[in-house]
Amino acid sequence: MSELRTERLLLRGWRESDLAPWAAMNADPEVRRYFPGVLTREQADASAARFQAEIHRRGWGWWAVEVIDSGEFIGFTGLDAVEDVMPFTGVEAGWRLARSAWGHGYATEAARAALEFGFDTLALPEILAVTSVTNVPSQAVMRRIGMTRDRADDFDDPTMPLGPLRPSVVYRLPRGRYQRT
Ligand SMILES: CC(C)(COP(=O)(O)OP(=O)(O)OC[C@H]1O[C@@H](n2cnc3c(N)ncnc32)[C@H](O)[C@@H]1OP(=O)(O)O)[C@@H](O)C(=O)NCCC(=O)NCCS
Repeated sequence: MSELRTERLLLRGWRESDLAPWAAMNADPEVRRYFPGVLTREQADASAARFQAEIHRRGWGWWAVEVIDSGEFIGFTGLDAVEDVMPFTGVEAGWRLARSAWGHGYATEAARAALEFGFDTLALPEILAVTSVTNVPSQAVMRRIGMTRDRADDFDDPTMPLGPLRPSVVYRLPRGRYQRT
């Protein structure tokens, strides 16, 4: 099972000790602002178990992110296959951090490690990212890692409830435009 290391972060498999802080951040309405609602402890536990099972099965996925200096768990970043219900296919990058970990460049730093893994180890032809049109902070991460939006790709995300979260954007980074930092 792969672990990725950056200057400040470790992207690793999920541990029992991640479950309480993972549940706490998913009970925070600000963290869940661009999702249908907050998660219960049971839902948060189940999602962490799914993420870990996927990493165990295929060697990569939504890795737990730890700050190396403090050992603190701050959320996840990683790669996953786009869900079947989406109107396109591919591998997407994604991130979700606890509010206390925003504003430090951690999502961008972790996402760059995920891109390097995706292009160098998995030899992917392209990595994309998807979010609600209104999720400006996530789109800023996408732009910082070199992804670009083609408005022709904008779509209504069928996994989101009807309403403002549905109109969504796709940012893409083809292998040929990837620049290691
Ligand atoms: C999306 C999300 C991870 C973005 O977090 P973020 O803190 O804005 O992004 P980064 O971790 O890349 O940090 C960038 C910020 O850190 C600042 N920063 C501070 N120290 C830094 C450093 N050493 N290096 C780089 N940036 C640094 C940058 O200036 C930037 O601040 P700005 O936005 O005020 O310009 C966060 O908003 C989140 O978890 N949201 C909830 C979940 C979610 O919506 N996920 C996406 C679903 S698609």
